Amino acid sequence: MKILVTGGLGFIGSHTVVELLQKDYEVVIIDNLSNSSISVLEGITSITQKSPQFHKIDLKDKLRLSEFFEEHHDLDGIIHFAASKAVGESVEKPLLYYENNINTLVLVLQEMRRKELSNFIFSSSCTVYGQADELPITEEAPVKKAESPYGNTKQIGEEIIQEYAKTNPQFNAISLRYFNPIGAHKSTEIGELPIGVPQNLIPFITQTAAGKRKELSVFGNDYPTPDGTAVRDYIHVVDLAKAHIVALERLINAKNKKNYEVFNLGTGKGNSVLEVIQAFEKVSQQKLPYKIVDRREGDITAAYADTTKANTDLGWKAELGIEDSLKSAWEWQLKQE
Ligand code: WQD
Repeated sequence: MKILVTGGLGFIGSHTVVELLQKDYEVVIIDNLSNSSISVLEGITSITQKSPQFHKIDLKDKLRLSEFFEEHHDLDGIIHFAASKAVGESVEKPLLYYENNINTLVLVLQEMRRKELSNFIFSSSCTVYGQADELPITEEAPVKKAESPYGNTKQIGEEIIQEYAKTNPQFNAISLRYFNPIGAHKSTEIGELPIGVPQNLIPFITQTAAGKRKELSVFGNDYPTPDGTAVRDYIHVVDLAKAHIVALERLINAKNKKNYEVFNLGTGKGNSVLEVIQAFEKVSQQKLPYKIVDRREGDITAAYADTTKANTDLGWKAELGIEDSLKSAWEWQLKQE
């Protein structure tokens, strides 16, 4: 079985490639290296002792993409990670995000149509729910007006896929709505590689603990939560990667109930920022310097997944908890020294 992974050298993409190779799939990676490094390919090979095909292609390059699909017209599935994902940057550069996240999705789907390919897994996000009215969040929760162009590209992406699936019954797709992916492979051969100042909580914590950052700024402690800091569902990136294989096999084995399905991928447990700091200090045995500052524009109070549908329909459940995830993130950080 041959699987294309777009964005396969990225954070979640690389961990998913490892799981695919370890299940003896043939993997072909497309990545433009705009937010990843070729060293990730070495990490994948070091873990799996396999060398997946890698093509440095920008999905915006229609001609190169068509040439790729001419050669690889026999794909059994596509997992589509390639996209820009920085919420703050998307506010400053919306056109870049709509071009890179939407146009490329349409080009990939057009190539699938030309080659009559099916089995498409889309990397989506819980950000499509905005601040959900009810917690935990089920897949039936209403999709709300996105707080950022990044979030909007995920909503639009899901709509494009759903509408294409509606009039193309031979096409099968699943959107996976990730909560907060964190951590790193236990080998410390691959992990999160934020470029510049980390926007996300966990890499900022580990870089602070490693002395690369002076202190963590906690964005607000006046939220209506038990300790006043915002709550998220932090899921280990390896658990998330494994869910992609389960979703792909659901389509390959025609176990899907409809030709377009959506699943929330989280642990089902919420942790506040202060609880994450406490857990990190426990696993790292290090005091974390932090200060409370104002809320970050666009942040929501709380989000954590209702995992019932993923557990029962998809047959997947997160196995690792917050301390496992933070420990792996810390071990990965120490490897970067
Ligand atoms: C988590 C919590 C912050 C940094 C976003 C996207 C989501 C996905 C993950 C791409 C929040 C707080 C953070 C810091 C802090 N992105 N925080 N100090 O915003 O929940 O989700 O990233 O796939 O789609 O929406 O993640 O890690 O940025 O923030 O206090 O220096 O940590 O306020 O409460 P977020 P995050």
